[in-house]
Amino acid sequence: MGFRIAVSGKGGTGKTIISGLILGYLLRKGKGPILAVDADANANLNEVLGVKYEQTIGGVREKLRTDVPPGITKNIWFEMKAEEALVETEHYDLLVMGLPEGQGCYCVANALASKCIDVLTQNYNYVIIDNEAGMEHFSRLTTHDIDLLFVISDSSIRGLQAARRILDLIKKLNLSISRSEVLLSQVKDGINPSLKKEADRLEIEIAGFVPFDENIFQSDLEGKPTYNLPESSPSVRELGKILDKTL
Ligand SMILES: Nc1ncnc2c1ncn2[C@@H]1O[C@H](COP(=O)(O)OP(=O)(O)OP(=O)(O)O)[C@@H](O)[C@H]1O
Ligand SMILES: [Mg+2]
Repeated sequence: MGFRIAVSGKGGTGKTIISGLILGYLLRKGKGPILAVDADANANLNEVLGVKYEQTIGGVREKLRTDVPPGITKNIWFEMKAEEALVETEHYDLLVMGLPEGQGCYCVANALASKCIDVLTQNYNYVIIDNEAGMEHFSRLTTHDIDLLFVISDSSIRGLQAARRILDLIKKLNLSISRSEVLLSQVKDGINPSLKKEADRLEIEIAGFVPFDENIFQSDLEGKPTYNLPESSPSVRELGKILDKTL
C-alpha cells in the first residue's frame, strides 16, 4: 500500500502548487511510482503538472447506472473504466476525481469508487492527494487512511484559523490520519511575529514555510507547469528541507 499524502487548507493558499512540488520532490528522490490524485471538483492539478485529462472518476460513476453492458459486473466495469481514466506519464500517473455528487443516491457508487481507488493506489509507492478547500469532502469520495496530511495556510490570521478548524474537524470526525503538519505558503519576508503569536495562541506548530516564489508566479502567468521547477527555486529548496524532515 502506497504512503498517502494529502494536502488541504483554506482556498487559494497554495495547496495545488504544493501538491505538485511534493510530486517533483519525490521524483527527484527516485521514489516512484507515484499517483497524483486531484480531489478538487474544480480540478487543476493537471495544469501544475502540465498534462491533460479526459475522464474523471465522478464521470465514470455517473455512467454506472446506464452504461454497464450485460454480462459484466458493475464492480469490474468500474475498475476497468477507472483505469482508463488514469493519465499515465513516464514518471507518474494522475487520477482526477471530478464532481463528487450528482442527483440521487450515490452510496453504492461511492462505495465502489472508494474501493476502486484503494485497489488502484496499491500499485504506487506514494499517493499525493490535492484536496479542495474545506474539509466536507474528506468524508466523501477519496480520503481515508492518510499517512501524512499537510494543512496549508497563507501568512494571514484567517489562514491559521482555518488550519485550526481543519485540525479540530479531523479530531471530531475521527478521520484516520496518522500525522498532520501545518505549512505556511507564499510567505514574504519570513514568519511575521504577530502571526507566530496567533499560531501559539491557537496551539498550532508550524512545520515550516514555503516562500513566495517569483518562478511560480511567472510560470503561472505563462501557463507552464511548476511541479518540476529547478532546485534553485526558493519554493523548491525550502519545501525540500521540510520534506526531508517530515517524510
Ligand atoms: N509559493 C508561491 N509563490 C508564488 N505564487 C504562489 C505560490 N504558491 C501558490 N502561488 C500562486 O497562488 C495561486 C493559488 O495557488 P494554488 O492554486 O496552488 O492554491 P490552492 O490552495 O490550490 O487554491 P484552491 O483553493 O483554489 O484549490 C496560484 O496563482 C499560484 O500560482
Ligand atoms: Mg487547488
